[in-house]
Amino acid sequence: SIEETIWEYKGVCFPRDLTMETLDVLPDFQIRDDDIVVATFPKTGTNWLVEIVAKILQAVGITDRSGENFISPGPLELKLPTRPHPGYVTQAETPSPRLMITHLPIEFQPKGISKPQNKVKILVPMRNPKDTVVSLYHFGNKVMELTGVRLTDNIPFDAFAQNFLNGKVPYGPYEDHVLGWWQMRDDPHFLFLKYEDMKKDLLSAVKAIVAFLEVDLDESTIKGIAEASTFNNMKADMDNSKIAERQAIARKGVIGDWKNMFSQELSEAFDTWYEKKFSGTGITFDFE
Ligand code: PPS
Repeated sequence: SIEETIWEYKGVCFPRDLTMETLDVLPDFQIRDDDIVVATFPKTGTNWLVEIVAKILQAVGITDRSGENFISPGPLELKLPTRPHPGYVTQAETPSPRLMITHLPIEFQPKGISKPQNKVKILVPMRNPKDTVVSLYHFGNKVMELTGVRLTDNIPFDAFAQNFLNGKVPYGPYEDHVLGWWQMRDDPHFLFLKYEDMKKDLLSAVKAIVAFLEVDLDESTIKGIAEASTFNNMKADMDNSKIAERQAIARKGVIGDWKNMFSQELSEAFDTWYEKKFSGTGITFDFE
């Protein structure tokens, strides 16, 4: 049942491995001037963005002290099974500059993120909800297969997609999450990037990220980073990772995989929901 994988608090569904204690302490987690944060609804391009940012930092000679090239201890709010502490505990002890991930909706974030007085830079990927729910479904099943940990319900896709529409998935409702971050669209601390735009023109996306991070890189280096960040070039690295959750990330990496999973009826239900939640918000997605 749904209760096995999520719990609800203040209108948000949280995964079972996220604790109330974490929600209590995270608002006071200290954000630093030179932090870079990738803030996302799951499956919208988190790891892609993190890899690109890490490659950009490495290209300008910034590596993290561990030599792990910014491979993160997971999202701030979670304790991965393979790690001793939740992400925020590890990150609090990590020297600057930090590259951090979070899936929390904006209202649960450290205060320095939701009201950034500092120079912190926050990247927010967004992805069309049909492909997002498909990716989430497969990810949950794959993680179960690899680790035995159940992140999402083992139910037929149609029922899972219905739960997504009702907000009953980890970090749901999707629309509240996306629209919460979208309020920050005019704030220069934030960069919004759509998965579909990145797929269609990765070089431009990398250029936008380089500009946002205010680093200097020549054209050929930028091209090299874009080339190294294509799905096929990232997949081998991820599949060979020692961390099981990373092995489950690079699946298909395309726009429109929803067509292989959605019935006509389900697609229409999504279209109606999408129209109701997003019309007039300025957010539009490509679905193919
Ligand atoms: S997570 O678990 O929330 O951190 O997952 P996240 O990284 O946000 O999303 C995983 C999906 O992103 C795809 N992906 C990519 N697509 C295109 N290019 C590159 N380089 C890339 N890297 C990851 C990944 O394949 C997941 O999407 P699906 O549709 O499942 O393939």
